[in-house]
Amino acid sequence: MKVFGIQDLDDLLNQEVLLRADFNVPLLNGEISDSTRIDKTLPTIGYLLKKNSRLVICSHLGRPKEKKETANSLLPVASYLKKHFPIVHFAFDCIGEEVLSLRKNLKAGEILLLENTRYYKEETSNDFDFSRNLAGKADYFVNDAFSVSHRKHSSVSEVCQFVKKSFAGFLLQKEIRFLGELLSLPESPFCVILGGAKVSDKMGVIKSFLGIADTLIIGGAMANTFHKALGYEVGSSLVEEDYLKIASEILALAQKKKTQILLPDDVQVSSSLKEEVHLPNIHSYQEGEKISSGFLAVDIGEVAIQKFTEAIQKAKTVLWNGPMGVFEIPAFSQGTKKIAQAVANCGGKTIVGGGDSVSALNQFKLVDKIDFISTGGGATLEFLEGKILPGIASLSKK
Ligand code: 3PG
Repeated sequence: MKVFGIQDLDDLLNQEVLLRADFNVPLLNGEISDSTRIDKTLPTIGYLLKKNSRLVICSHLGRPKEKKETANSLLPVASYLKKHFPIVHFAFDCIGEEVLSLRKNLKAGEILLLENTRYYKEETSNDFDFSRNLAGKADYFVNDAFSVSHRKHSSVSEVCQFVKKSFAGFLLQKEIRFLGELLSLPESPFCVILGGAKVSDKMGVIKSFLGIADTLIIGGAMANTFHKALGYEVGSSLVEEDYLKIASEILALAQKKKTQILLPDDVQVSSSLKEEVHLPNIHSYQEGEKISSGFLAVDIGEVAIQKFTEAIQKAKTVLWNGPMGVFEIPAFSQGTKKIAQAVANCGGKTIVGGGDSVSALNQFKLVDKIDFISTGGGATLEFLEGKILPGIASLSKK
């Protein structure tokens, strides 16, 4: 699939470019509390302005149920952009006569940020007319919103139909390159670390790395389902009963495909997710211990930390997605912290994706030590499953 990048564009003097960014950032009392996603798109915006385009930017923010919920307005993002670029206008809608007139009057080197595209239900239904109205008279479309490219929505997919040509921004290209290399050319030993609550969320990714990864570390509550499938007593730990058979099949397939699966040999257990009632209690599956009913696994134990760390240190390529335990609670955060440190200290190429792993890296101040942090959550997982993302596929059509 051939996708053109914005570096293939000539001078854009007086051309209107519609850029799809992912400005879905967290807001606290109307202020942006984490600007990472905006910051990562700044190089694309700067480049398009330097090429003298008239730059119209659209994005979603949150999942508004009602049209024009002010809590989901992109107005704070316009204020943020003003700190970086000289002229930023804001349109209080994303389609309509007034917006068209603002777009018409936009000058070369100026930005017009449109209001939240999800104020229209037609955005998420990939509606033809809405997409045409959103495209307006734009000459070119640029997608730099990797993290929403798994959505078949108007502003990422159908809109491409209504412009002369579509391009990938720098961030989207970087995501495709780094994640694509993981699937096609990972330097061995390749270690994949998956955590989080549910096996069901990660099933596709687990399967896609069998036979590609040398080691697959499974931590977090996901591991309970595998332990139960192996016949261990997991007490009141979170288990996806519907996935027990699939977990057994994965273990068998991994053996056949020569991917070593590492599960935690020991876990921290607690009678409650409330920190104040937690008594440190290590439970070892290896020593045949059973977790009693009323107790649940909340973190990986010391033996597991050591074993996982050794595998990570040996790796030349590491992918990490999902925490090892309930890391938001300090008493249960040790496993995630130690694994984050192991990934940060690994001499090989390191890639981290998924909101929880990235917030763990932020919490432990390790972000700068990772080679590539994917901005996607669901999009990263779907890409790594080998799915063709609508937001990328539609770029190659025109
Ligand atoms: C994300 O936060 O992962 C993206 O912005 C996509 O948002 P969505 O899950 O609401 O489509």
